[in-house]
Amino acid sequence: MSARSRAARRDTGGESATAGAAAFLPARRSLAALRKAAQDCRGCALHARATQAVFGEGRRGARIMLVGEQPGDDEDHEGRPFVGPAGRVLDAALRAAGIDRADCYVSNTVKHFKWQPRGKRRMHSKPNAAEQRACRPWLDAELEQIRPELLVCLGATAAQALLGRGVRVTVDHGRALPSALAKHAIATIHPSSVLRQPDADARERARRQLTDDLRAAAALLRG
Ligand code: URA
Ligand code: SF4
Repeated sequence: MSARSRAARRDTGGESATAGAAAFLPARRSLAALRKAAQDCRGCALHARATQAVFGEGRRGARIMLVGEQPGDDEDHEGRPFVGPAGRVLDAALRAAGIDRADCYVSNTVKHFKWQPRGKRRMHSKPNAAEQRACRPWLDAELEQIRPELLVCLGATAAQALLGRGVRVTVDHGRALPSALAKHAIATIHPSSVLRQPDADARERARRQLTDDLRAAAALLRG
């Protein structure tokens, strides 16, 4: 294939470019082996414009698994999930809810940063259904390794991918939702939606909602 047709395939995100991550998973399943193998994933077109894959992070024995959408600009550079502005919102909300991030495994629905240029900035662009599907084997492998007691979906992308297409975060947030993936599952707003609110009052309300939902999640664990 010529370089030009390869580039064209990347641009269109054509069928062959979203064949999926399954072929890139290592035979030996451990978090370390998975994390390493994800760096070589070519399961969809997103790897081409990202710096690196951002794999999940946390203890193998974590009881809580948090899943966001996809890495952002800072995460793409650092190679770690939720370390940018949204991560700071999440950290503060976790603290306020009495959850230690060190007790959590934190990951994303999609492992490579999808972006579009706006001036000099790289703006987040939502991964489409094919990209989410392509990347799912990594998330399934993480779930299999962690087997969390509590699954927290941060935002609609993770909630709909993991808890069902019918989940509406605006309606269903903060309460136990049925899931085969964990004993307890809950959805809440995405931390970055706090930052997108139009004014300080709205930001504060969103922040409180996120914290309240995380508190409800922690209460499920306590039983
Ligand atoms: N937003 C996400 O969904 N995940 C990250 O890791 C960072 C920002
Ligand atoms: Fe592979 Fe997921 Fe990256 Fe696509 S986004 S290349 S499926 S790791």
